[in-house]
Amino acid sequence: MSASTSNPDSNDIDRIHSAVKREKSDLPAGSEAAPMWAIFIGFLVAVFAGGQLGTAGNFFSIESQPAFPSAGDPRPSSSGAGDKLDPFALAMKKGAASYAVCGGCHQGSGLGVPGQFPPLAGSEFAQGGTERLIRIALNGLVGPVTVKGTGFNTPGGMPPQGMALGDQDIANVLTYVRNSFGNEGTMVTKEMVNKVRTAEATRTAQWAAADLEKFAKSNVPGDVPAGPGAATAAPADKK
Ligand code: HEC
Repeated sequence: MSASTSNPDSNDIDRIHSAVKREKSDLPAGSEAAPMWAIFIGFLVAVFAGGQLGTAGNFFSIESQPAFPSAGDPRPSSSGAGDKLDPFALAMKKGAASYAVCGGCHQGSGLGVPGQFPPLAGSEFAQGGTERLIRIALNGLVGPVTVKGTGFNTPGGMPPQGMALGDQDIANVLTYVRNSFGNEGTMVTKEMVNKVRTAEATRTAQWAAADLEKFAKSNVPGDVPAGPGAATAAPADKK
């Protein structure tokens, strides 16, 4: 049998399979699978040519294809982080958020609750001198008070807010209160709040409205950046 294994035609298995092989029709010319080396070279050419196109012409360069058209972009220019807002707009934005603290009593509308919480809308306390307003925010208010001609004397009064809110928060929220609900007033800065906080550092008691009458029209000196009402308060700030 050693002779038959050297001759494929005389091998049984080969003979049987040669019949099967004959049954297969030949592939038409040109439809044979491409050899692996040809596919590989094709890839190399595509990668290299793509790189050349990317670096050579402007047209294919990724830098020349802006993600968004620069002109007529409808998105607001501010990123929302507040970094591009002017100081007044930024204080209003942050103050609106901090106002949640006050809004629980004075209401989101600033209209207060009749017989219980006085209104900030149209209030002479909110729009008047910053000396008085900052003091109320920091230490609170208790006892009889008349706001827009209506008397209030809520038991317990208004609790101090200066512990929960820092100088910047108080400044923002007061700027917001002075320029919302139809109110108009100057900005309150954190420097102004700090001056009052320092001047009243030893005070823990709430204010009585009568104590603050002398501050009704005076403003804490300090920079008053541009904003609605800035022009009206500037002279008082300079005195
Ligand atoms: C727990 C309820 C409560 C909260 C919170 C509160 N207030 Fe008041 N506020 C009052 C009450 C009550 C009075 C009136 C006090 C009185 O009768 O003497 C008052 C009075 C005032 C006044 C003077 C009167 C007027 O209406 O203009 C101002 C200004 C004021 N609050 C601002 C604020 C601001 C700003 C905040 C937030 C930082 C705040 N309040 C948080 C209850 C509150």
